[in-house]
Amino acid sequence: MSALASSLSGSAALLALAGLVTYVFAGAVYRLYFHPLAKFPGPKIAALTTWYEGWYDYLWLQGKFTFHLADLHKKYGPIVRIGPNEVHIKDPEFFSQIYTMSSAKIDKYEYYYSMLGNPEATFPTIAHETHKSRRAALAPFFSTAAVLRFQPVVQRVADRLCSRMRTALAADEPIPLFFAFRGLTVDIVSEYLFGASPDILERPDWGRSFYGAWRGLWELSPLIRQIPGILAVFRWTPRWLLKATNPKALEVLDMETQTDAWTARLLATPEAEIKKRPQRTVLWEVAHSNALPAEERTFKRLAVDGNNILAAGFETTGNMLSHMMYGVLSQPAVHARLCKELENAIPDPESMPNSQVLEKLPYLNAVVKETLRQGVGAFGRLSRVNRSSAVRYGDWLIPSGCAYGMSPLYVLWDETLFPDPGKFDPERWLGADAKRLEHYLVSFGRGPRLCVGMNLANAELYVVGAAVVRRFPTLRLWETGPEDVKAIYDYFGGMWRFEEGSDGLQVKG
Ligand code: HEM
Repeated sequence: MSALASSLSGSAALLALAGLVTYVFAGAVYRLYFHPLAKFPGPKIAALTTWYEGWYDYLWLQGKFTFHLADLHKKYGPIVRIGPNEVHIKDPEFFSQIYTMSSAKIDKYEYYYSMLGNPEATFPTIAHETHKSRRAALAPFFSTAAVLRFQPVVQRVADRLCSRMRTALAADEPIPLFFAFRGLTVDIVSEYLFGASPDILERPDWGRSFYGAWRGLWELSPLIRQIPGILAVFRWTPRWLLKATNPKALEVLDMETQTDAWTARLLATPEAEIKKRPQRTVLWEVAHSNALPAEERTFKRLAVDGNNILAAGFETTGNMLSHMMYGVLSQPAVHARLCKELENAIPDPESMPNSQVLEKLPYLNAVVKETLRQGVGAFGRLSRVNRSSAVRYGDWLIPSGCAYGMSPLYVLWDETLFPDPGKFDPERWLGADAKRLEHYLVSFGRGPRLCVGMNLANAELYVVGAAVVRRFPTLRLWETGPEDVKAIYDYFGGMWRFEEGSDGLQVKG
């Protein structure tokens, strides 16, 4: 009897194995020969599995797939099949066109945007319709007028940074601007979203450990993309085990706990107290907004969105400020010209104008534009899916339901538009060609998913950049070389190396 049972279970296992092999084989044949993208050029292995991307982003290398796309385009041309259901296009002329198909209902590509494990947030929302209402609730707080009303907070945090810099300079200590700028942007965005500042700028380590926690999430993002359930597994794992096996994941979960706590405190704040504040508090307003149905205003969704908007707003802008400062300080002629313009325009450095005035200074304006171009921000391809109709690219018709996208990197660093793209050169924005080039300044994306925080980011770049350069004209780089300030990882945002012993961008006075 037991021999019969074991022979039966052996046969069942064999059958299951045969079934699995047939399934995998049939899937592979389908993807290679019958899939709607089967005729598109690209490596066969990419057509077979998303782990081709995983190899470059997680398994063997870290955050390198975006850079690998350049090699693929060299070999296969401007459109390449980069995954079983996705193509990437490298053509700056086509960027605006694919992101601004106004009449079409365009979704984000679920596989790609699952990377942070938070589909309830606005940024990774997949469906066009859901996104539309989430965006409508947020947008009024990021309009030009709203950001202008919020600017006293931006200036106050910039002043706090300058005061801490003064103390460090008086003690002849180096200032780790890499962390300081990120601490500053966290303090600003948290104040706006949650009405609370974690005061990162006051911390003795200038926010290094705080940044480390977020960096943990970004470094995990390629793995989450391949195995979307992995975050849930981390959440179930006991803390002690996670600490021993995956400390980065533990930092990520602690970050979530912190933004959950800020959201809970904010939502429990009585209306009378909220209305007394000189500034609006975005998440409180969204929680009471008519633009969203009740199920979109739950504590959990708001907390997830708050966490995600903070992530979207602080690293990008802190990174841009770092690019700006390195670009300016590494070139004495650029630094001298900017100092001169700011000295002429701002006689008293303790009384700084707002961003609307600063934007009109021609050289500062060129410096900010060059920062946004050279710094890029989002290196990730902005993958989209047109669920109702095919999308034409030249002779190619990308079938509906298939994903397509383009990384802003391949527009902003296109050599035919911006020769020597790695060079920080504000002159590009002062020549006769500048107006034409603005069309290609796509750092904030384009179309309905354009960065909602664009006005706030711009205000921060002008206000903080101008304050630091105007108030500290003798600032110089300290133990910082080009290898410290190069985006060598793509975790959606382009990121610099972050290792023990490397402080990124440092300055002294
Ligand atoms: C210079 C700094 C910034 C850059 C370069 C940048 C870049 C981008 C890009 C390219 C997108 C589109 C992503 C896509 O299509 O998948 C985006 C979306 C977004 N950004 Fe930014 N961003 C910056 C600053 C900010 C700030 C300060 C905030 C808010 C505090 C913010 C919040 C968001 C949000 C919520 C979205 C999703 C918008 C939507 O889907 O409606 N960003 N950003």
